[in-house]
Amino acid sequence: MEEKYGFKKENCKIKNENYKTKKENCQNIKEKCPTKSECENILEKYNTPIHVRKHCYAVSKTAGSIAEALNNKGLKLDVDLVRAAGYLHDIARVEKNHDKVGADYLSSIGYKKVANVIKNHTKHKINPDIGLLDEEDVLCIADRVVLQSNYVGPKKRMDYIMSKAILKYGQDSRDLLDSIAKEFVNFIYALEDFIGSPLYKIVPEDIREEKYKN
Ligand SMILES: [Fe+2]
Repeated sequence: MEEKYGFKKENCKIKNENYKTKKENCQNIKEKCPTKSECENILEKYNTPIHVRKHCYAVSKTAGSIAEALNNKGLKLDVDLVRAAGYLHDIARVEKNHDKVGADYLSSIGYKKVANVIKNHTKHKINPDIGLLDEEDVLCIADRVVLQSNYVGPKKRMDYIMSKAILKYGQDSRDLLDSIAKEFVNFIYALEDFIGSPLYKIVPEDIREEKYKN
C-alpha cells in the first residue's frame, strides 16, 4: 500500500502558474461565523444524521488544525471560519448536490461566508501553491484525509474515493484516477514539509485512526 502510488517527495512540484486565488470569497462578506454549539444546533435542526455529524466533527477538527499550522507559517487564514465550514460542509449530505443544497440553506439562515466555503467542496481543485491556500482549500484538504469520523491520511482516503469512482466510471478511468490520487498524496507530503510535521501529529488524538494514536 505504501508503495502503491510510488510516492516521492521530490516528485512533488508546487506550481504557481495558472492559478488565481479566490480571495473575493471570504474576506469581503461580513458576518460572524457560527460557534461550535451553534453549528451543532444547525445540524440538529436540519436533521443531519449522526454518522454524518461525526464525520463533520472530524473534518472540522482536522481543518482547524491544518489552518492553525499554516498560520504559524505565515498564512492568514480565518481559523473560526475553517472550523465552522468543516462542521457544516456535509449538512445536506444525504441529498443530491449536497454541497450546493447545504450552501443554499446556510446562506438562507444568514451564514453566507460559511456557505461560500462549502458550496463547491466536492469538486473544488485545491490550489497547489501552499502559500496561497485559502479557507476553501483547507476544508477540502481536511475532507480528503478524513474517512467517516477518523483522520486516516491521504492514501487510505484516496483508495476509498477511487474504489467508488471506478464503480461509477468503470475500469477505463483507473489510470486517470490513479494519477489524481498520486498528485494529492504528493501534495500532502509537500504540505507536511511546509508545516514541519506529519498531519496526523497535529490533529487531536481522539479523531486519529488507531494506527496514528501514540
Ligand atoms: Fe465530507
